[in-house]
Amino acid sequence: MKCTVIIAFCSLATGAVAGHELDDRDVAGGQTLYADHCAACHGANLEGQPDWRSPDENGVLPAPPHDETGHTWHHDNRLLFEYTQLGGAEALSARGITGFASGMPRFADVLSDDDIWDILAFIRSTWPDRIQALQADRNPPHN
Ligand code: HEC
Repeated sequence: MKCTVIIAFCSLATGAVAGHELDDRDVAGGQTLYADHCAACHGANLEGQPDWRSPDENGVLPAPPHDETGHTWHHDNRLLFEYTQLGGAEALSARGITGFASGMPRFADVLSDDDIWDILAFIRSTWPDRIQALQADRNPPHN
């Protein structure tokens, strides 16, 4: 009995379970939504804007790539979701980083929660397995 409990606990700690919001999503639908709402800035092929690491004269960063060359996969699902839902400035201020001039707009009034998860699942689907596994491990275990 004790053993069973320990095994159940350990399996909760694996990345596959931790990243479950992105499982069983409508990836094709997410791709269409990405083209309509995100590609203008993040690129039709998720390549981001030129010189995306260099802020402009107002200190605002260009849109980073969402492919494996960017840092999207460095973040857990919750941050990626909130960055899209709330926009960059609000998502960061919820984490105590205030006054950040972010070029990432808020999509809460345009996209449903499921839309956002579908788009993020599409983005993830373009990453190699190794990167998908690394990103899954960024997610703390949760229900
Ligand atoms: C008007 C341009 C624009 C549009 C449209 C846009 N973004 Fe962004 N996005 C940005 C910029 C600029 C950043 C970098 C933000 C920053 O520095 O806070 C960013 C950052 C992000 C990040 C954080 C990524 C990271 O690597 O840290 C996510 C996630 C994201 N965008 C998702 C989306 C999704 C999903 C869509 C479509 C629903 C979208 N964005 C549409 C401009 C845009």
